[in-house]
Amino acid sequence: MKKRIFSGAQPTGQLHLGNYLGALKNWVALQNEYESFFCIVNLHAITLPQDPQVLRQKTLDLARIYLAAGLDPEVSTIFIQSDIAEHAELTWVLSCSSRMGELERMTQFKDKGKGNSERAGVGLFTYPVLMAADILLYQTHLVPVGKDQKQHLELARDLAERFNRDFGRTFVVPDPFIPPVGANILSLQEPAKKMSKSDENPNGAIFLLDDPDTITKKIKRAVTDSGTTVEYDEARPAISNLLTIYHLMTGRTIEESQAHFEGRGYGHFKAELAEAVVEFLKPFQEKAQSYTDDELNRILKAGAEKARVIARETLRDVYAKMGIVGAV
Ligand code: TYM
Repeated sequence: MKKRIFSGAQPTGQLHLGNYLGALKNWVALQNEYESFFCIVNLHAITLPQDPQVLRQKTLDLARIYLAAGLDPEVSTIFIQSDIAEHAELTWVLSCSSRMGELERMTQFKDKGKGNSERAGVGLFTYPVLMAADILLYQTHLVPVGKDQKQHLELARDLAERFNRDFGRTFVVPDPFIPPVGANILSLQEPAKKMSKSDENPNGAIFLLDDPDTITKKIKRAVTDSGTTVEYDEARPAISNLLTIYHLMTGRTIEESQAHFEGRGYGHFKAELAEAVVEFLKPFQEKAQSYTDDELNRILKAGAEKARVIARETLRDVYAKMGIVGAV
């Protein structure tokens, strides 16, 4: 039996190169080796207010992005979170064994709740429990994510272990898969921060659907550190970030890339980087645009049917172990 992977992204904002390099690229690379589940987590999206019309559209658009990145619906199960009611049900069960203290420690809650627990939504607080439910429902072995999700993964592991201890072996305890390079792509404008969908400054992120002109402008405007050489150096996060993007886009190693740009300045490097990103995203964007809504809906429906069988089996086991029985 193949081991399982599960991962997902939120249908909010626009997906950017960080999402692709930190997560989607690895999903594609791993999908054949594992039994794979990739979810569009629309219930996570409503932890912050969403326009219903936009959310509906973005849910389908995210399926386009998954397919354009190379997820193969014949190989991977691709589905929408809200199609499987068990995600919300298991969240309730797990929230009963989660501790306020451990959720309060989640850095994403602190960031997104802006440290104001009086006003922050409860959904933002329990967000990682829903994420744990996503993962544990499918008896997941490996969860490929970027570095910002590491703490949430630790919570999922803790909740699985706690449940197994209290009720007997029920859940596989998942391991994170965080790539050694690309797990934390930084903002082009503020390299102390990650590239983010919710950044107020759109120049900080290269979105996967940006046109060539926009990409070139954003890279030209990207901040650089003092110094002139194109070299990877942890003390120079801005240039190291750009070099990492170049390496991951072109497949040239960091050493080869440094050798290639030796004796050339930032201007030359940025022009070549922009070209590499534009070249990479061109076929990606063409593919994303090639799916009709009907095709996407068919894929997502078939995915939900497969996912539901496994989710039901896990939840039934959870309820049986806990003594939760109904009359019908
Ligand atoms: P989301 O939608 O914010 O991001 C999707 C994936 O992209 C990764 N990522 C990055 N990687 C590298 N550099 C960056 N700057 C960068 N920004 C984002 C994220 O780590 C993520 O892997 N909570 C999750 C969605 C989720 C999930 C799950 C993931 C819900 N349930 C179960 C795995 C398993 C999130 O908000 O991802």
